[in-house]
Formats: sequence, C-alpha cells, structure tokens
Amino acid sequence: MNNLKSTILITGGAGFIGSNFIHYYMKQHPHVNLLNIDKLTYAGSMENLIEVEGKDNYQFIHGDITHESLLNNIFRNYDIKGVIHFAAESHVDRSIKDSRAFIESNVLGTMTLLQAAREDWEKKGELSNRRFYQISTDEVYGTLGAEGKFTEQTPYNPRNPYSASKAGANLLVRSFGYTYGMNVVISSSSNNFGPRQHLEKLIPTIISNALAGTQIPIYGDGENVRDWLYVEDHCRALEVIYHHGQSLETYNVGGSNERTNIVIAEQICGILDSLKPELRKRLNLNSFKDLIRFTEDRKGHDRRYAVDDSKLKSELGWKPKEDFDTGLQKTVEWYVNQWNLQPNR
Ligand SMILES: NC(=O)c1ccc[n+]([C@@H]2O[C@H](COP(=O)([O-])OP(=O)(O)OC[C@H]3O[C@@H](n4cnc5c(N)ncnc54)[C@H](O)[C@@H]3O)[C@@H](O)[C@H]2O)c1
Repeated sequence: MNNLKSTILITGGAGFIGSNFIHYYMKQHPHVNLLNIDKLTYAGSMENLIEVEGKDNYQFIHGDITHESLLNNIFRNYDIKGVIHFAAESHVDRSIKDSRAFIESNVLGTMTLLQAAREDWEKKGELSNRRFYQISTDEVYGTLGAEGKFTEQTPYNPRNPYSASKAGANLLVRSFGYTYGMNVVISSSSNNFGPRQHLEKLIPTIISNALAGTQIPIYGDGENVRDWLYVEDHCRALEVIYHHGQSLETYNVGGSNERTNIVIAEQICGILDSLKPELRKRLNLNSFKDLIRFTEDRKGHDRRYAVDDSKLKSELGWKPKEDFDTGLQKTVEWYVNQWNLQPNR
C-alpha cells in the first residue's frame, strides 16, 4: 500500500459492521486506501476479510486502539485523511457481567484515537478538513414506550454499561469538535443484521441454535421491540455520512423494521423449515419453532428502540434498499451455507 496516498483508517474492521463496510466501500471506491486496525478480540475474525486480503489498497494492523504509541506511529507513517471508528466491545450481555473492557476500548480507546488524530491533523493544519467519524448506536438514547421514536435531539439516557460507554465516547467525540474545531460526525443506528455477525447476537444465535437442534433462548416474554437495519443499507448510510455529513452533527440511521424478538425468532424458524426440511425431520421437530424457550429476562432490558431517521433521508438523500423479509432470508441462507461448509455436515 502506498503510504502517501489518501488513506482512511478503519478501526474494528474485523468485526461485523466494520468488515461489511470494508467490502462495500472497496467496491465503491477502488482507489482509496483502507488501513484497518483491529485487536482481534473474540468478536473479530480475519475470516471476515479473506476477500480483501492482499489487495493493493488494503492493509491490516493487529493492534489495540488504547495503545497511544501505536496510534501515533500510524498517523506518522500514513497520511490518514479520515477515521471511521467502529472498534468497540459491542455485546450488552457481556457489559452487564463485566464492564471494564467496555470502558477501556469504547471510552479510553476512543479518547486515545481522538488524541492521536488531533495531534497529527493539527500539525498539518488540517484539523477542520480531515474527518473523524464515530459509529454509534440508538441505545445511547435509552428506552421507549409503545409510541414515539428517538430523534437526534433526544437526550442521552443510556441504561446499561455498553450504551453508557458508547454515550461517553460520543460525548468525547463531540467535545473534540467543540474544543479543538476538529471535524467530527456521529451516527446512531438501530440493530444491524446480515452476514458476518458474531454468533452471540440475537439473529445468529437463533439460526445457529436451530441448526444445532438446541433450545432457542428468548428473553422475558419475547415482546421487546428492536428496529432492524440490513447491514449493507447501514454501509450505504455510513458512506454518505462520512462524505457528506455536516461536522458536529449526529445522524440517526434506522431500518423502519420494528419487530418483537419472538416474531423474529418465529420468522427465522419458518425460513429454516423450508431451507432444512431433512434436518427438521432428523431432529424430530414439527417446526424449528418447537425449540423456542422463554428465559429469565436480561437485567434492565430496554423495552423498545426506534429511531427517526428523517434527517439523514431529507438532508443526505439516503434510504434503505433492502426489504426486511428478503434481508432476513439472505441472512439465514448465509449462515446455513457457513454451517453446511463445516466438516461432518
Ligand atoms: N451491531 C449492531 O447492531 C450495532 C448497532 C449500532 C451501532 N453499532 C456499533 O458499531 C460498531 C461495530 O459493531 P459490530 O457489531 O460490528 O461489533 P463487533 O463486536 O462485531 O466488532 C467489533 C470489532 O472491534 C474490535 N475491537 C474491540 N476492541 C478493540 C480495541 N480496543 N482495539 C481495536 N479493535 C478492537 C474487535 O476485535 C472487533 O473486530 C460498534 O462501535 C458498535 O457500538 C453496532
């Protein structure tokens, strides 16, 4: 990779959304260099990046965004024109068990990255031109009742350690914009789904447990509502916000697909009933739905999230392309193909 060419630093690009973004962005912008730094925690996987490895305009650095000297070296050695910051501990359940890693990577890591970018861009007189883009979540806004949606003006009210760490990081990002005049932008998206997501998250858990013939755990009464965004639609939003979003602004990104967890589980089981009828018979099931079990609710489980993303649509012209049903079908097929590739299937 030519270090002097325009380079975007991607953090956390071996994870779910980051790797999908790298694939998407490299297709759209084949002449831009992407430098991906990832710690490869349990959540990151080099397999997510096999298709881009070895390409001239892509490079991977195995590293931790809390390491100041590593980041300073990166900014010294490459001409980083922008940062798209995905790296984070991202699983709410893990943050409830132990939040330390969340504060380290999500808060301290974001601050370390901001600091390294600021120092380099300030020296080059580029602080207001180069862009720092913070990828965030609708969970920073808290929880909703049956009505209403979060707007960009909704005050932050995070209710679990993961969302608190993301809200803290967002505030730091904004503060660098106000204090130093750094060009920063934030987006807060709803729940993503699609290929390459870690098996611990809701949709992959439902699919993988069904394929393994084990119980499919659904928290509480299954009536918690999330708005689902197909990951490639999110990638399109990220591209447009990175290039055209206004500095110091936040953009909500939604999928307009509010579903309860139980409805999602049943729909996935229905798809699997038609994709894997032999397996269903072998497991002695009338339907994969027979595997669904309600479990003790998550502590502090937010009831409903939904975002108003009219600002992104009206100001930047984005709209999702994927229909929820076709996106879910493609997602289930992707996991089934991965499962079929495993030995002894
Ligand atoms: N998945 C969603 O539905 C969703 C929705 C809204 C926002 N987000 C945000 O999008 C971003 C990406 O989410 P995801 O679902 O792809 O997460 P993920 O857990 O799949 O991936 C996170 C990646 O970050 C890396 N990482 C973690 N700590 C690191 C550190 N200290 N230094 C370097 N790399 C580190 C991991 O190795 C992993 O590859 C996160 O910031 C998350 O808060 C996710």
